[in-house]
Amino acid sequence: MAIEADPGFRLECGVCGASSDAAPLASLCTICGGPQLVRYPEVAELGPDVAARWADRPRGMWRFREILPLRQGEVPISLGEGDTPLLPLLRLGEDLGLRLLMKDEGRNPTGSFKDRGLAAALTRAVHDGAREFVIPSAGNAGAALAAYAARAGVPARIFLPEDTPPGVQVRCRAFGAEVTAVDGLITDCGALAAEDASRTGAFDLSTLREPYRIEGKKTMALEILEALEWQPPDAVVYPTGGGTGLIGTWKALEELAAIGLITNPETRLYAVQGEGCAPIVRAWLSGQQVAEPWQDAHTEAWGLRVPRARGDRLILRAIRDTDGGAIAVSDDRMQQETLRLQRTEGINACIEGGAVLAAARALRAAGQIREGETVVLFNTGNLQNY
Ligand SMILES: Cc1ncc(COP(=O)(O)O)c(C=O)c1O
Repeated sequence: MAIEADPGFRLECGVCGASSDAAPLASLCTICGGPQLVRYPEVAELGPDVAARWADRPRGMWRFREILPLRQGEVPISLGEGDTPLLPLLRLGEDLGLRLLMKDEGRNPTGSFKDRGLAAALTRAVHDGAREFVIPSAGNAGAALAAYAARAGVPARIFLPEDTPPGVQVRCRAFGAEVTAVDGLITDCGALAAEDASRTGAFDLSTLREPYRIEGKKTMALEILEALEWQPPDAVVYPTGGGTGLIGTWKALEELAAIGLITNPETRLYAVQGEGCAPIVRAWLSGQQVAEPWQDAHTEAWGLRVPRARGDRLILRAIRDTDGGAIAVSDDRMQQETLRLQRTEGINACIEGGAVLAAARALRAAGQIREGETVVLFNTGNLQNY
């Protein structure tokens, strides 16, 4: 019988595996301090028929609610995020000898994929009783939090590196958030956000500090697989900073396999970083399970300027378990490929989208992506976000 009720969820530490009830306002694992993942104990019982229910519901990421962290009767805080197009890149695909597709996340309410994660995290936290929020951000997450906090009627404070493009700060303030520009990197912003949270009692929505941003991000992969009629692509190439989208994609593939919607989840996941800040690539190339912090991080792709990712183990495990990899590209190559996306395909691409195309080209040249494969690229934001 179809399960109409939301089947409930638990938390499992992504590092030590400890399982726990999803206590209100959960953050890191209380045993080892690792990031936690949401688990749906009844996922296998949903069965492939759930896809018909997803298809019949009103559009947006919340139609996947059986595998989202909502309790029965809860209404999501939503601005209509999700259901972005998976666009074929015909000319670029022909050039590379691939079936090339781009998930265009710039169409989200504040112009980036961060909307999905923040919608999920803020929804859960508000239902759990949080009334004030704080976040460190490279820019897009801050703008997303600002908008969703406005939607929920709760205050938000955002710590951004001071060299974040001015337009981002303007957007955050426009939505009513309090913005602090920090002379430092995202890691310095993280320390200030944590200090603010412990002083004021605000809930800290830092990447992977709480388990629910991944759940929102994973809906990108659910939509991709639905658009491909549940035939997994050969490869996914993803611009990796904190890694929530990559981990979310890995998790979505596992959940769809457990449901029975995909039978052969042999999608290889590739993480893309900038040459000036590539801790995951360095760890991958030297066979490490964790990534050492990157010194003097610099790249024009400010979403990728994350010198130390809390989810490093999980990112590295995702690319290892899927037989994928990690690759760094220069800022020049990113910029050239961003223009190519704009001028050859009409995509309103951000530089991280260009980074992914540059990486796909390099992976194809190296023979890691092979002729005729189906390859999904992510454009994680839009041009106006600069
Ligand atoms: C446009 C853009 N792309 C990619 C990333 C990296 O995303 P993730 O944290 O999921 O690795 C960010 C993060 O700020 C971003 O803003």
